[in-house]
Amino acid sequence: MEEKKKILYSGIQPSGSFTIGNYFGAIKNWVNLQDDYDCYFCVVDLHALTVPQVPKDLRKNSFESFITLLAAGIDPEKSTLYFQSHVSAHAELAWLLNCYSYMGELGRMTQFKDKSKKQGENIRVGLYSYPVLMAADILLYQSDLVPVGEDQKQHLELTRDIASRFNNLYSPTFKIPEPYIGKKGARIMSLQEPEKKMSKSDENINAFVTLQDPRDVIIKKFKRAITDSDTQVRFDRKEKPGVSNLMEIYSCATGKDFKDIEKEFEGKGYGDFKTAVGEAVADTLAPIQKRFAELKEDKAYIKEIVENSTAKTNRAANRTLGKVKRKVGLFEV
Ligand code: TYM
Repeated sequence: MEEKKKILYSGIQPSGSFTIGNYFGAIKNWVNLQDDYDCYFCVVDLHALTVPQVPKDLRKNSFESFITLLAAGIDPEKSTLYFQSHVSAHAELAWLLNCYSYMGELGRMTQFKDKSKKQGENIRVGLYSYPVLMAADILLYQSDLVPVGEDQKQHLELTRDIASRFNNLYSPTFKIPEPYIGKKGARIMSLQEPEKKMSKSDENINAFVTLQDPRDVIIKKFKRAITDSDTQVRFDRKEKPGVSNLMEIYSCATGKDFKDIEKEFEGKGYGDFKTAVGEAVADTLAPIQKRFAELKEDKAYIKEIVENSTAKTNRAANRTLGKVKRKVGLFEV
């Protein structure tokens, strides 16, 4: 008999075009793990509403995010790719879990602390309880493994705490998920301020590279990347954060290890190195961009994928939600 595969779950915010941080830190691992797990990948459009959005842009970005994941190699024959808002169990379980989560633990989340600074006086409740919705996403599917970049590790620990608390209070209900953080690319830094995480919301567009950036733009952004006053291509996160980040990106794009990269650029200046990184990234992204352009025209194919995955996810999610409702004592007829 064929052994049942373990469940893998992950999500991504619909920013439209993802950064190479999203790609090397998360999406690439998703693609590689598809054969070994029963995978669910979610475009988390409800999470996107925790910061201000223009409705028509959110709609467009959600669609483009979905097809970018397909273009990057998520195979709908193997994995279930869907929109969070199409499965109402996410919002329902999030509410229920809110009743088992503590203000103190949510207030300690570094992402909340960072993002709330940008919202001024009126910080949205949704931003605060954001990790509870993320816990609901993961726990609904009885997930074993959650591949994420390093910045999501704290949210995953919280998910495990909430799940254990619920299980202890009632009886085993949720699987306790394990994080999966890749050895390489788990924290790609800004090209302009290498002590900061690369993020699409950065005001400086030279700080990040997106999966939609044309080849010449990619190469230009790498040429402008901040390095240091030394000339040696050597991996040292502390002393040489800019160069080390570029080495990590180059390693992700080419598969070469740091020792080989150091050797490759021995005696050469940073100029050659930066050009090589830019070209390697552009080469990695070219097939994704080509496939994206094709998929964008094939609305019927996308509709079919969404319809199939929505039916499947609703079935799976409602099983867990029903269990939770019974355990907490909600009345049923
Ligand atoms: P999001 O949309 O910010 O990012 C999606 C994934 O990309 C990773 N990532 C990075 N990895 C390396 N270097 C970077 N500079 C970088 N920037 C982003 C993130 O770690 C993430 O894995 N809360 C999540 C989305 C989410 C989710 C979930 C994830 C919602 N529900 C359930 C897993 C399971 C988020 O905002 O990711």
